Amino acid sequence: MKAITTTTISCKSPRVTIIGAGKVGSTLTQRIAEKDLADVVLLDLVEGLPQGIALDLSEAQGVELHSSKIIGTNDYADTVGSDIVVITAGLARKPGMSRDDLLYINAKIVVEAAQKALTYSPNAMFIVITNPLDVMTYLVWKAVGLPHTQVVGMAGVLDSSRLQAFIAMELGVSIANVNALVLGGHGDLMLPLLRYCTVSGVPITEIMSKSDIDRLVERTRHGGAEIVKLLKTGGAFYAPASSACVMIESMIRNQSRILPAAAYLKGEYGLHDIFIGVPCRLGCHGVEKVLEVDLTEEETESLHASAASVRQNIDLAFAHLKM
Ligand code: LAC
Repeated sequence: MKAITTTTISCKSPRVTIIGAGKVGSTLTQRIAEKDLADVVLLDLVEGLPQGIALDLSEAQGVELHSSKIIGTNDYADTVGSDIVVITAGLARKPGMSRDDLLYINAKIVVEAAQKALTYSPNAMFIVITNPLDVMTYLVWKAVGLPHTQVVGMAGVLDSSRLQAFIAMELGVSIANVNALVLGGHGDLMLPLLRYCTVSGVPITEIMSKSDIDRLVERTRHGGAEIVKLLKTGGAFYAPASSACVMIESMIRNQSRILPAAAYLKGEYGLHDIFIGVPCRLGCHGVEKVLEVDLTEEETESLHASAASVRQNIDLAFAHLKM
């Protein structure tokens, strides 16, 4: 009789841990689950909050028909074996506050969260969402001690998506025809690269007046604050969650998408030892490549000014944490 050989398919789904069950964390959980990208562990210190969100989302599965497992927990042990850890824990801005105003309080929170998560997922990819974003991403990298390719911050996708939306609204065209690219730190000094913002391939600089473009750029720079002001409690969460989700998807499905994100630079753009928004290739190895696009002298100056402000805050955070 012929021997039967059996083949085994791995039953393990990818696992994403999200630390912080606020609006961004819970919306991101929903997006990941509904796209069937991974099982999600949603962790928060507040008892009942992540469990309630996870249960509510699980009860929608009969309608949404996805099969991701969603676990809500207060215990880091439940995050064991995660492929990706997303850190969104920390305080959000109140009206009138800048992202930098959150520096000290959030620095402590993200470092602790990253270190605890690392204990259970020692080789995970870390995606940071907490503000001030570029500084927090650097702190997480230092706190976990993993290769820099495994740590990345979410902001460039969000800032670019905001500019993309404003261009589409202004011109009355489908957002599907609009491309936008915003680099630099996730703050008032972010750098929209207008030459690379296009409508059906045509640079916006050829079809919009300078004053109109300047107005949209200003709105993008203050896009987060505009929403904080409208909501009054808390900040944006739909667009931030979508932006993080596309990064997670590119990593989990190894799509190699080019997305602007806060990545570690070691000489690219003339910058060293800093995380800041640049176009990256995101795949199953994390930040697989940093793309260097040509910048004018003025753009390089702006990027360096943005980096200098990030650097200043990194130094302040380190001094504060005595790291
Ligand atoms: C914003 C937050 C996520 O820009 O920084 O809305």
